[in-house]
Amino acid sequence: MVAFPPAATLSAMDTYTFTLLLGAAQAAYAHAYAPYSHFQVGAALLGADGQVYAGCNVENASYGLTRCAEQSAIQGMNTAGVRQFDALVVYSESTPPASPCGACRQILFEFAPGAKVACVNHLGERLDIQVSELLPHGFRMAQE
Ligand code: THU
Repeated sequence: MVAFPPAATLSAMDTYTFTLLLGAAQAAYAHAYAPYSHFQVGAALLGADGQVYAGCNVENASYGLTRCAEQSAIQGMNTAGVRQFDALVVYSESTPPASPCGACRQILFEFAPGAKVACVNHLGERLDIQVSELLPHGFRMAQE
């Protein structure tokens, strides 16, 4: 039943991965399209192929069509044919640092329940957590 280790056994992503993803997330952050909320977010994940996939939030005048930064990164990874990732950095300039919204948690869970996540801001505040901690008991289709 329990497919992933409990939080107590978790460790943060290594410094090299964090630095690599933070740079990519900050670059994506600068490209966020957020004229309505003025809340920019950048995300970057390390795909199982070793490549970095970044995304920013892209808003719309029809607010509900807004795409979160994490979803943009997941789309890029899938477009490259990659279905797994090991680590994700979410960058914002808010306090506390933005953590993935509920919808994004389920989308992240689809591909990597065990991935390490770091939510960081411009002040260096940082939350280290795992996808399955962000979304305990996330939904999965039953596999026969
Ligand atoms: N947003 C993200 O891109 N990721 C998150 O984790 C939280 C929220 C975006 C959506 C919207 O463009 C703006 O932040 C305000 O909600």
